[in-house]
Amino acid sequence: MLESEYNKRRRLPRHLRPAPAPERPFSYEVRPAVFADVPDVREIYNYYVRNSVVTFDEKPWTHRKWADKFAETERLGLPFLVAVSPTGQVLGYALAAPWSGTTSFRYTVETSIYLGPGATGKGLGRSLLQALITACEEVGLREMVAVISDRGAEASIALHESLGFVESGRMGRVGYKFGRWLGTVYLQKSLRPRRRRGLFGRNARRG
Ligand SMILES: CC(C)(COP(=O)(O)OP(=O)(O)OC[C@H]1O[C@@H](n2cnc3c(N)ncnc32)[C@H](O)[C@@H]1OP(=O)(O)O)[C@@H](O)C(=O)NCCC(=O)NCCS
Repeated sequence: MLESEYNKRRRLPRHLRPAPAPERPFSYEVRPAVFADVPDVREIYNYYVRNSVVTFDEKPWTHRKWADKFAETERLGLPFLVAVSPTGQVLGYALAAPWSGTTSFRYTVETSIYLGPGATGKGLGRSLLQALITACEEVGLREMVAVISDRGAEASIALHESLGFVESGRMGRVGYKFGRWLGTVYLQKSLRPRRRRGLFGRNARRG
């Protein structure tokens, strides 16, 4: 008898095989990102750079680029959140970045949210984006804008709309990646800020 045939026979009949371990419940905690999360955040983001058109970036980000992004977000006091599993694995992140470096745009931010491929479709995106909205309101921001690819980002559009973002415009064929043209969808949400302070350390005179 061939060895491969022998191994086949050694397999227990279905009713005698041990039951598979029950799937662990999908649980996580959302907390502010710390510098040590940068490699995990980078890995999640670069997965989408390499494999999708949900981001327009074509080159993976270096550790240095993410470290600078982390430092800039911290310097401006903007929310940068991660969702972590009970074992400490980073499952996804969400952050707010200035919509523009021009000071008159100091109450407006652009959102960014990415989950690891194994963490999508389970409601985590909703919790993370809701936490980002709340954190933006707490620091005094007033408008959030999401710039989303018009191809392959249906989940992101559905997620933002389900949390009150409203489409404010589209641009066609402004990007080109993996041999095809891409457009952008703009979604916007007005916030209820808890304090009067914009980015760049400047305030509003009137609410
Ligand atoms: C976009 C993303 C953050 C959404 O998070 P998620 O945890 O997968 O989504 P959720 O399970 O919280 O679902 C949010 C909503 O989107 C809907 N949705 C999820 N996947 C969808 C899909 N493929 N097509 C259409 N709708 C979808 C859900 O039904 C849900 O709607 P509801 O609240 O009205 O029920 C996540 O899928 C992701 O990281 N994707 C890859 C990266 C990406 O596209 N980032 C955004 C770049 S702009």
